[in-house]
Amino acid sequence: MKEIIDVELKTRKVDFSKCKTDLLAVGQFCDTKGLDKLNAELNRNLAGAIEQVIKLGDFKGKDGTSAIVYGNDSIGARRVLLVGLGERKKATVDTVRKAAANASNKAVEMKVKTVSLALHRAFEGRFDLPAMGQAMAEGTYFGSYRYDEFVTESGDGRLDSLSVELIDSDSEKTKKLNKGLRSGAIIGKAQSYARTLANRPANVTNPIELAAAAKQLSRSSERLSCTIFDEKQLAAKGMGGILAVGSGSVNKPRFIVLKYSSASRAASTRPTVGLVGKAITFDSGGISIKQAADMEQMKLDKTGGITVLGTMKAAAELQLPVNVYGAIPAAENMPGGASYRPGDIITTFSGKTVEVQNTDAEGRMILCDALSYVAEQNCDIIIDIATLTGACRVALGKHMAGLMGNDDKLIKQLQRAAQDSGEKVWPMPSGDEYAEEMKSKIADLKNVGGKWGGACTGAAFLRQFVGGKRWAHLDIAGTDILEKATEFAAEGSSGFGVRLLTTYLMNLAGKKY
Ligand code: BES
Ligand code: MN
Ligand code: ZN
Repeated sequence: MKEIIDVELKTRKVDFSKCKTDLLAVGQFCDTKGLDKLNAELNRNLAGAIEQVIKLGDFKGKDGTSAIVYGNDSIGARRVLLVGLGERKKATVDTVRKAAANASNKAVEMKVKTVSLALHRAFEGRFDLPAMGQAMAEGTYFGSYRYDEFVTESGDGRLDSLSVELIDSDSEKTKKLNKGLRSGAIIGKAQSYARTLANRPANVTNPIELAAAAKQLSRSSERLSCTIFDEKQLAAKGMGGILAVGSGSVNKPRFIVLKYSSASRAASTRPTVGLVGKAITFDSGGISIKQAADMEQMKLDKTGGITVLGTMKAAAELQLPVNVYGAIPAAENMPGGASYRPGDIITTFSGKTVEVQNTDAEGRMILCDALSYVAEQNCDIIIDIATLTGACRVALGKHMAGLMGNDDKLIKQLQRAAQDSGEKVWPMPSGDEYAEEMKSKIADLKNVGGKWGGACTGAAFLRQFVGGKRWAHLDIAGTDILEKATEFAAEGSSGFGVRLLTTYLMNLAGKKY
């Protein structure tokens, strides 16, 4: 199998105009009068070529756009890529991240080997340099990512590696950029790792393979440990939810528990966090089978679990001073002679019983066991992430994840992390009114609510398994997939949540970069 594109990232002190590179990327707002300072310098050396592109109306600096100006003997770069930054007053650190994603996406498209990013220049004085270094590193990974490990016909071939540098003429500034680059590269790489695992189809990645990937990850760091519960151990523990969902498939379910124990003593002064991710390696719906259209997208129903894996990888590499559990219930939801059925009553790990009314509401059936498990492990904070409901996709579309929870402070912290990471969330309710809809007449709970508010009733179900701990739920059913390629990324898994959750942990640990 082909490896994904290897990204090499560093900083370099060099005069912008003299920088020898295949592609020099600079930013331009759509509403600034004239050219930004750096662009004006390049424009002079290019005999007015940048001004010309703008004058002709070929490039206006709009968000998501770009234009190429070819180099000459007066500058070192072979090409200058003008990257649109949109309106100046709307810019955030995410604008820098997206600009880097745009540039690296173009670089891969054009098969350019060396890229120099000077995108931070347009924002100087507004955001600090390490934050921009981090964002550019993350964006570089995000935009250059391609999933093609099973494509054997090479076509006209794609690059094996991309070499990217963040440049500035001032060595104090490259030093500051480099501070952020180091954490940004770890996070970006963890996100690409997650995207590859998520993109793999269900005949390649089943619960057992996913458990093997988690084991392998745990071997990369002394501070990570990994326990796998197989179907026998699940039965012994009474994890009836995970077992029920997995019962219809020849690929048996697993419960994966990773633990990151920080080497830092300060970690014990901070809350222990339990991350719980839904990993349905394929969701056919089971006996309540889904319709055929778009069913292939259900290979991505493991994204929540994989996001947790990616976040654990990043936390370990960043050596965050906070202790974290990563709990990943993994199953394949298939119809078959041994499948669980509508009408079945399942006893979950918590002891609570659930009447199954729809086998396609399987995410909550596996998450409930995992949530009660991490609550029992004395996690102070529990955050679950799941492609839980089509209803959330209907409500919020593809731009934001639904955010529910029982603790205002935790909700605010996640909103903050969303702002910092550029992975957006939107608050939604999941309180008593919704929980009321999840009551069954013949068991403690049923697994579907009424016709409306499916994202909220789904969350209200989960809420009842967290043992009174501070808890938040992220419904990523709309954000897990990029259905079409954009200026910023290829199609397929978005890796949504790795940046968000890692940033949350970094903020909690008081680690800035
Ligand atoms: N994995 C799906 C949710 C989903 C749908 C994710 C579309 C991404 C895109 C989930 O397991 C599911 O099937 N949910 C049901 C719940 C219903 C039966 C209560 C749904 O949303 O229809
Ligand atoms: Mn389902
Ligand atoms: Zn599902």
